[in-house]
Amino acid sequence: MARHEELPVPIYSTLEPVYGAGSQSEEAQLRFDNLKSKFIQAFGHPPHVYARSPGRVNLIGEHIDYEGYSVLPMAIRQDTIVAIRKRDAGEPDKALRIANVNDKYAMCTYPADPEQDIDLKNHRWGHYFICGYKGFYEYAKSRGLDVGEPVGLDVIVDGIVPTGSGLSSSAAFVCSSTIAIMAAADVNFPKKEIAQLTCVCERHIGTQSGGMDQAISVMAQPGFAELIDFNPIRATDVQLPAGGSFVIAHSLAESQKAVTAATNYNNRVVECRLAAIVLGIKLGLKPQEAISKAKTLSDVEGLCVSFAGSHGSSDPVVAVKELLNEEPYTAADIEKITEEKLHLVFADSPSSLDVLNAAKHFKLFQRASHVYSEAKRVYAFKDTVSSDLSEEDMLKKLGDLMNESHYSCSVLYECSCPELEELVNICRQNGALGARLTGAGWGGCAVALVKESTVPKFILNLKEQFYQARMNKGVINNIDLGLYVFASKPSSGAAIFKF
Ligand code: GLA
Repeated sequence: MARHEELPVPIYSTLEPVYGAGSQSEEAQLRFDNLKSKFIQAFGHPPHVYARSPGRVNLIGEHIDYEGYSVLPMAIRQDTIVAIRKRDAGEPDKALRIANVNDKYAMCTYPADPEQDIDLKNHRWGHYFICGYKGFYEYAKSRGLDVGEPVGLDVIVDGIVPTGSGLSSSAAFVCSSTIAIMAAADVNFPKKEIAQLTCVCERHIGTQSGGMDQAISVMAQPGFAELIDFNPIRATDVQLPAGGSFVIAHSLAESQKAVTAATNYNNRVVECRLAAIVLGIKLGLKPQEAISKAKTLSDVEGLCVSFAGSHGSSDPVVAVKELLNEEPYTAADIEKITEEKLHLVFADSPSSLDVLNAAKHFKLFQRASHVYSEAKRVYAFKDTVSSDLSEEDMLKKLGDLMNESHYSCSVLYECSCPELEELVNICRQNGALGARLTGAGWGGCAVALVKESTVPKFILNLKEQFYQARMNKGVINNIDLGLYVFASKPSSGAAIFKF
């Protein structure tokens, strides 16, 4: 039997297979009805087809996907639904008209041109749809598929993954857009191909993201977290212990990944690349060879492990400790080692050049230590889940790994923030077995592992100790609290609906 990621996106004519039979389905039905009536109101016709793709919470494996390492997220129930209608080739208006059920987002119009550049200086919410639009045509072209001439599209979006929360609202939007465009063109690709193409096309927005968010959004299976491997993309179901529950809590600090890319997200990608090059050179590669071959830390892991072997270990961190300075490096320090100007090393990546222009120094030791140790924790987590430990011991071990991951993100990778630190501490003080930031960080959510039976009390305590003061100040409304703190079960991946 084909592995599930080899299959195309499922097409349903009812909501139950994705939303279940209970209140979730009723809530979804209201959203679909609303989408349809807004669509008719805005465009004078009903949509042809709908696509949905969920957000995700990453349980462990942060900031290592772009270094080639496996991660372990699960899909959450909050998703983005895109309703779409392809205009006939004869219709004169060739524009892409993208509206939103939320009036906060004004309608965006773009030309029906897959070659268009995305104006990054002028950030508009519709840009994420254009990422999917460009990605679909780039993919079709690379495969020599005839998907017809680009025509006008009418689109309405309904997203309920909170934005800036570290729960991948952007991937939910890009994936649902790409799948809607694909379904409107009457084709369907294998899920792993869509995961790959959406990962690449979201980079048009200017962040050098890895592929975790899109992979889980497209390939998730209900009831399972997934171990996601890269190169090639692959998803393996991971059954989580029944007695534990993952509570997601928003720090209420917004994480603006795209806007802060040059100093935060892309900066870390560049630092990892520099760490890989410097390690490669220290371990015997010629500078030019290291520059061309060491793209990620996983590319030099073998060399680091051999080095560690000669020191009686198999841990690549041994090489990091011996060969990289703990003190931050200046660009000049690194250029002495690479024998090449950094601007030339990154000449083909404008967003990396933005990083170089913004950075004062580079913390290679800290970033490489995080990546190698976090990569190991992902496998430790997966092995623990499938071990024969008692449930009690298993949950404790998983919690410890999550705490270690948070420490590494916070201290070595420096992608936390004061609000997340406060929230993670409050989670632990209230009995979480483990708690950590999730997603890119610098704001957004924490995820806590809590014994299932204690979830209601745990959430109540967070309300009193973290959220109440913020509600008093008017940062959030009492009635919205459920949007910011909730327990989550692993939900289903992307789907197409034709009613
Ligand atoms: C963002 C990116 C992912 C991943 C995480 C950090 O969500 O889109 O690819 O790198 O940050 O783990």
